[in-house]
Amino acid sequence: MGFLAQPPSQSGSPANDPRSTSRPSRLELTGISVAFGGVAALTDVSLTVEPGQVHGLIGPNGAGKTTLFNVACGLVRPDAGTILWRDREQRRLRPSRLTSLGIARTLQGVGLFPGLSVLENVMIGAHRHARAGFFSALFALPTADKDERLLRERAQRALTELGAEAYADRYPGSLPYPVQKRVALARALVAEPDLLLLDEPASGLGEDEMHELGELIRALSERMSVLLVEHHMDLVMKVCDRITVLDSGVQIAVGTPAEIQAHPAVTEAYLGDAVDVEADAAELSGTEGARHRG
Ligand SMILES: Nc1ncnc2c1ncn2[C@@H]1O[C@H](COP(=O)(O)OP(=O)(O)O)[C@@H](O)[C@H]1O
Ligand SMILES: [Mg+2]
Repeated sequence: MGFLAQPPSQSGSPANDPRSTSRPSRLELTGISVAFGGVAALTDVSLTVEPGQVHGLIGPNGAGKTTLFNVACGLVRPDAGTILWRDREQRRLRPSRLTSLGIARTLQGVGLFPGLSVLENVMIGAHRHARAGFFSALFALPTADKDERLLRERAQRALTELGAEAYADRYPGSLPYPVQKRVALARALVAEPDLLLLDEPASGLGEDEMHELGELIRALSERMSVLLVEHHMDLVMKVCDRITVLDSGVQIAVGTPAEIQAHPAVTEAYLGDAVDVEADAAELSGTEGARHRG
């Protein structure tokens, strides 16, 4: 069991989808600056997620990745800069509006509601008009039996796609962490988003699960754009079409995985430790003057 990428669940036909427009699913963040109490977390950062692409966002701890992610999902209002989604400026982006815009996210950690079953957790994600979080989402669930049944079926399909259908009636707290993460992803996918925002989806996963997550993200990019914040470099290099590198709140590089791997500033700022370990090993074997690093 794992992040099994099954054939895409059938989506609503575009003609019936109120969000469907001829505008491409492109997210453009331009000139974004954010300061917390006068301390710059992001300075003039720009990032574009192209339609159908997986865009990686990497950088050392404190680089500003989560802050930029939070700007993209409306949790943090930037001090400067613009957010364009499908060519429309989003001045009042809020997390509660994401679903109706065709955007879904998972947060660092899992964030499932402990008092709801797995299936109910996923059903909440399907609600496109959820206004402000848990209670209104719950109360806004369609009451008509038919809507409820359709919603339930969609949630079951999303769980099946993630290989988690066996847990539908369980409560999140009783499940292993990797299964909880799959449920959280099913909840994001059930709304059939055009853009998926993922903050550290691989944290807490083992090698096999991470590999399957990579396959799943590649499969998802057939039907949506993905912004992937992740510090597991091998996963990022494997699944991303393009990568933006932040360091101390400043964008230091953007390019394909191959370009990023070869970029001197990136090697220095981010891959530096790994490279230095190899350099140290070479030095240690050759000279007695090897540097010692913490
Ligand atoms: N809510 C906040 N209040 C004050 N400082 C913050 C807040 N969120 C982040 N920061 C600071 O902004 C910088 C970027 O943090 P963050 O975006 O979390 O980085 P990353 O996700 O790359 O590790 C860090 O220096 C962090 O301490
Ligand atoms: Mg972070």
